Amino acid sequence: MLSKLIRKKQPALNSELIKRKELSQLEQLPSHISIIMDGNGRWATKRTLPRIAGHYEGMKTVKKITKFANEIGIKTLSLYAFSTENWRRPKKEVDYLMRLPEELLGKYLPELIEQNVRVTMIGNHELLPEHTKRAITNAIEETLHNDGLILNFAFNYGSRDEIVQSVKQIVNKVQQGSISSDEITEELVSSHLMTNELTEPDLLIRTSGEIRLSNFMLWQLAYTEFWFTDTLWPDFDESCLMDAIESYQKRNRKYGGLKQEEVN
Ligand code: IPE
Ligand code: IPE
Ligand code: MG
Repeated sequence: MLSKLIRKKQPALNSELIKRKELSQLEQLPSHISIIMDGNGRWATKRTLPRIAGHYEGMKTVKKITKFANEIGIKTLSLYAFSTENWRRPKKEVDYLMRLPEELLGKYLPELIEQNVRVTMIGNHELLPEHTKRAITNAIEETLHNDGLILNFAFNYGSRDEIVQSVKQIVNKVQQGSISSDEITEELVSSHLMTNELTEPDLLIRTSGEIRLSNFMLWQLAYTEFWFTDTLWPDFDESCLMDAIESYQKRNRKYGGLKQEEVN
């Protein structure tokens, strides 16, 4: 079993982290955090393990970060887990990634329910194998009435695909006459995206040192604060999340306008 190959201690929250967690409550927390979870393959390769060992370890990080984000009061956590471009990887790796929702949402579901977490998904699910779809649908249904953290997985998600689908839906409505082209506004476009029930991300995190979006939430990230780290996703922990949140809390979000004190 992979779990036996990988020995990594998971320390309990230390007193410094508990203090940072408490201090963060005094300032505005990001309501929605999105994470591009990257670097699983490199984490494994560095240890001469197969890449899939990195994905397994990355799944453990998902559990840890979900629990912590919920505890500090984050409302939505969006996790980029499989992109529409990730099908280009070797079949063996893709097959393993398609098994992860069962592995994660199957065994971990009782814990998610206990933590009052609601699971949602964005992405094109039609092309997924039946067993993957089943695991995802089951987790969504079983957690539908939970009102704690929204754990939103982006699985077989691509922002360009999402935008194309939304344009098609809007064009259909115009052609059928249920809306006129004058009614096409930013709000209308947003309401046709897969994220239509979510707020826009306040903070985007990408791990592993890559500084790009890789087709993730191109529309939704228009005014999001970005935070990048060299840490590989399996090594990401609560204190890394606190680093990102503390950085966010020092940002000056202006949305193109000016703060009162800047006006002269
Ligand atoms: C992110 O880790 C997980 C997925 C994209 C599924 P990678 O598998 O991209 O890891 P690296 O970038 O090759 O290290
Ligand atoms: C982005 O990571 C997709 C996910 C994290 C699921 P990739 O590793 O696929 O992105 P690129 O290929 O480095 O841009
Ligand atoms: Mg990668």
